[in-house]
Amino acid sequence: METALQRFLPAPEIVPERLHRAMRYAVLGGGKRVRPLLAFAAGELAEADPARLEIVAAAVEIVHAYSLVHDDMPCMDNDVLRRGRPTCHVEFDDATALLAGDALQPLAFQLLAEHVLADSPAAQIEMLKILAMACGSRGMAGGQAIDLASVGKTLSLPELEFMHIHKTGALIRAAAVLGACCGSGLDAHEFGRLERYANTVGLAFQVVDDVLDCDASTATLGKTAGKDAAQAKPTYVSILGLTRARALADELRAEAHAAISSFGASAARLRELADFIVLRKF
Ligand code: IPE
Ligand code: IPE
Ligand code: MG
Ligand code: MG
Ligand code: MG
Repeated sequence: METALQRFLPAPEIVPERLHRAMRYAVLGGGKRVRPLLAFAAGELAEADPARLEIVAAAVEIVHAYSLVHDDMPCMDNDVLRRGRPTCHVEFDDATALLAGDALQPLAFQLLAEHVLADSPAAQIEMLKILAMACGSRGMAGGQAIDLASVGKTLSLPELEFMHIHKTGALIRAAAVLGACCGSGLDAHEFGRLERYANTVGLAFQVVDDVLDCDASTATLGKTAGKDAAQAKPTYVSILGLTRARALADELRAEAHAAISSFGASAARLRELADFIVLRKF
């Protein structure tokens, strides 16, 4: 994945160098790569060609990296530390960070458009649409808008779930679904089970992100801990408390396992990832 991402990003010596350096800075050299891992794991289940999976995994990770660059900007969460390094706008400047995000997003779609990923053009266009919807106003960007509008408010549990499903769940879901779309090994029922798994781990991921923000150190997270409370963000910890938030994450882990229980060894990686997403310490 790391070498693929290196290859797909514009070289740092290509004009405009500063923008390309900022794009590479945002994507390379850190991150858990959970979304690529999910794409590969779902692809394995669907008997997909790894060459196709590399493309969708990179596309989703590039969108994710762009979302982090913008999430960290002063007009959003105003964070200075990401993946153990200065955030993109601190290392470069606000305008360059804004443009790096602007340029990363279409790069992801370019990748999906210029490689053969499905057995028919119509199926491939459907994949482009899946990513578009996952990162647009009814997906990640919409969730981010709700996040910003919710500062200082107490959300109901359904409202909080809606926000998390959108800001984080949508792209995680897309990673797994797009991985599965690269293969033809799943029938409609099986695809539905994978989708249920993907929705569940997508929500679990942000529940755990909320828990870790409150429960882990800046050193282990590689990003400033305690930011949610400091910025009065409604989170699973602020609404449920740490113990119940952790318990919910574990319930979601069980739900994710249940969704794919009918699959055999080909779902082993997906099971491991559900465990990693909930049990991770960073
Ligand atoms: C952090 O995502 C932002 C959220 C969507 C919760 P990750 O925890 O996947 O960040 P990296 O990619 O590992 O840095
Ligand atoms: C980020 O949520 C969600 C997206 C980037 C889409 P957070 O704001 O909680 O992520 P961190 O904690 O800064 O990584
Ligand atoms: Mg945020
Ligand atoms: Mg943030
Ligand atoms: Mg967070």
